[in-house]
Amino acid sequence: MRLTLRLLSSVVQRRPFYVTTPIFYVNAAPHIGHLYTAVVADAIQRFEKLIDPDCNVIFSTGTDEHGTKIQQAAAKANLAPQEYCNKISEEYRTLFKDFDVEYTDFIRTTEERHKKAVHHFWKKLVKKDYIYKAKYSGWYSVNDESFVPETHVRDELRNGEQVKVSLESGHVVEWTEETNYMFRLSAFKTHLQEWLKNDGVITPSKFQKHLVDMVQNEAYFPDISVSRPSSRVHWAIRVPDDEEQSIYVWLDALVNYLTVLGYPDEDAMIKRGRPWPADVQVIGKDILKFHGIYWPAFLMALNWPPPRRLVCHSHWTVCGAKMSKSCHNVVSPRLEPAPAPALRYMLLREATMHDDANYSQTKLINIANSELADTLGNLGSRCCGAALNPRGEFPPLHATELGELRPGVASELMDCVEALHEICYNHYTNYQFYKAVDAVIHTLHVANLFFESHKPWELRKKPECQKELDVILHITMETLRISAIILQPIIPQLSEKLLDKLQIPKDSRSWQHCVTPSWRVQGAIYETKNIQGGKFVLFPRIYTDKKQKKSVSA
Ligand code: MSP
Repeated sequence: MRLTLRLLSSVVQRRPFYVTTPIFYVNAAPHIGHLYTAVVADAIQRFEKLIDPDCNVIFSTGTDEHGTKIQQAAAKANLAPQEYCNKISEEYRTLFKDFDVEYTDFIRTTEERHKKAVHHFWKKLVKKDYIYKAKYSGWYSVNDESFVPETHVRDELRNGEQVKVSLESGHVVEWTEETNYMFRLSAFKTHLQEWLKNDGVITPSKFQKHLVDMVQNEAYFPDISVSRPSSRVHWAIRVPDDEEQSIYVWLDALVNYLTVLGYPDEDAMIKRGRPWPADVQVIGKDILKFHGIYWPAFLMALNWPPPRRLVCHSHWTVCGAKMSKSCHNVVSPRLEPAPAPALRYMLLREATMHDDANYSQTKLINIANSELADTLGNLGSRCCGAALNPRGEFPPLHATELGELRPGVASELMDCVEALHEICYNHYTNYQFYKAVDAVIHTLHVANLFFESHKPWELRKKPECQKELDVILHITMETLRISAIILQPIIPQLSEKLLDKLQIPKDSRSWQHCVTPSWRVQGAIYETKNIQGGKFVLFPRIYTDKKQKKSVSA
């Protein structure tokens, strides 16, 4: 009987939703590109919880701490490698806290549990005869931590010196001859092609096509080196039973997605609800090959399924150029005078997955001021403020008064609000955050027009118009309520602030609560008294010039 119950409960136990970010190199402080990857993954997991509040989400992130470039960066900073890693890894944790990246697991590749997982993974590959020792020579890019095929390098003159660079990344490569362990990647070409036949494995589809081309191209299919001599790369996990060799950093790094789940401890993984294969792995386009070819091949070698989906994004550029330390164009996420919610909003609101987006501080400030401070925030302040709403209410709808409204703009707003959840649902499920935000902002523009055109400040002066004023406030506040629910994955803090102000109970903020606007329900459901008193500023305008700020507040 007990056994049957256990069996039954393991059958009905719901799989968790497993989403990952890449783990971040600790060779330098985080910039907005790194933050972007993390907020994309965070928005995905928040949306999942929004549509299914009972969903058990595992959201992993962390830091990638081994390899030559970390070794070099630590030496430059005059710190022992571990000390240096601790410092930068901590910066990532603080960054994620400040930007509401609500991960459940943070993994560091220098942890003992990870070393154990990598060793186990390696030994399995050896046992299955997918790893062998060989002499290897080729071009190596320290920056990409990757060998680059001869066909993918070109000559370039840099600082008066003739160098070879990788065609793909533009990073300098150096000729390397050494004994390595090799992985039989070539054995997986057909398996990978089969996997890539499934639509939606990589999204957007342009990146899937890119991978299909890569897999077809023979040059990408020699076996790959999966170790380096320890004499060259000492800051790394050693190959089991061979101290002379260090495990290739990408193999080490990719296994993090399993370490997080308790691998290789079978019981621990069962306890977590058998989350592999991951539902979504978020990556940038620069690491597509590692996640779309190497990672699935490693997994296939051990008869593990590849991830269900890779969500691949493009890059943030500055003045059209890729951010890099050597170009001195790296943008730190600590952007005075813009607060964290403004940057988080702009990153998700502006970038499309398929094309690069260009960062400029002017754009950030303009978007935050016009959309967060004005379109959303100001509408909230006006509805809740004492001037128009002295009783501090989310007032009743008074269905009988609906006929008094200006028909054009009122029905346009009501139509927009009614359609909003479905439009945004589609955009969110296609990871098109910018389109979801666009739809909300459009609705809020219509709401502002609706509000203005009914001149509530005049109705307020006439006691006989109180009911009409109530209806206008109700419809506008209802629009704000629905918008705030929908925007939770994008701007969690600001949405919470607005929903708190409107006195929407915490258990009434999930997707199902934005599906039906109150005017469709007999007897409006959201009527609250006692809206918190006091001035309400959802998002203070950003002023770059102190004088400008003074003259506005005077
Ligand atoms: N450590 C590897 C990943 C190993 S995962 C098993 C790595 N780290 S990284 O720090 O260089 O990059 C982490 C993420 O930041 C990647 O998704 C990368 O695409 C992203 N970005 C780095 N620069 C970026 C931009 N300029 N714009 C957007 N994202 C970019 O790769």
